Amino acid sequence: MAILSAKLVEVIQLGTEIAGLIDLPVKYWPLPGQYLPCQRLDGDMDGLATPLFPVLVGPNRLALGALPATWQPGDLVACAAPQGHGFSLPGSVRRVGLVPYGVSPNRLLTLVPDGLAQQAAVSLFTDRGIPEDVLARVPSQVEILPLAALVEEPGWPDYLAVDVDRSGLTTFIDQVAPHTWRCEAEVLIFTPMPCRGVGECGVCAVRTRRGWRYVCADGPVFPLKEVVHVAR
Ligand code: FES
Repeated sequence: MAILSAKLVEVIQLGTEIAGLIDLPVKYWPLPGQYLPCQRLDGDMDGLATPLFPVLVGPNRLALGALPATWQPGDLVACAAPQGHGFSLPGSVRRVGLVPYGVSPNRLLTLVPDGLAQQAAVSLFTDRGIPEDVLARVPSQVEILPLAALVEEPGWPDYLAVDVDRSGLTTFIDQVAPHTWRCEAEVLIFTPMPCRGVGECGVCAVRTRRGWRYVCADGPVFPLKEVVHVAR
């Protein structure tokens, strides 16, 4: 696995999370839903790599998070290449739903620029309040709706992207009934990934229709239909 050392140039607060701009070459930028295993080289070196996801994208700008609270601008960071499978937003979709279930919307909001660029309507379905500093970065074209709006009208989106902590998967299925969705849907399963994509420790294993899979290597984004019926 190629390792690159880069500098953390800026730290920003995004709701309860800290994100950072790291001066990485563009070819190392992860796509929405992918992650970079990163390890701080300065100060007290972290024992394990931290998986950092893209949380803010723009022309010439990429922020990764969530950073450990001890990381500071100027720190040197070792980064591996982008890992795992990210989201695949089909170019033909016109109504995009984003569902951060019990987690921050930061990872899913990285799909907004591509959605708007292809003239899709983008809605964010959440029952959690969105912190002001995150809201300020959400384009005005994005509609923010309660989760009930999706439950009542499951036929609205033609593509859905979900982000859920592995511990919340069963509750998500019970509350949202995703088996009623007819559109293409993908889910990012957020869980600890201590061996950073090597696929050896088994900590991130999740049951799918194709048997047990590793979130770190086979995900973190899966087709929703692969996990929704077997997640319990
Ligand atoms: S993190 Fe070790 S197998 Fe996935």
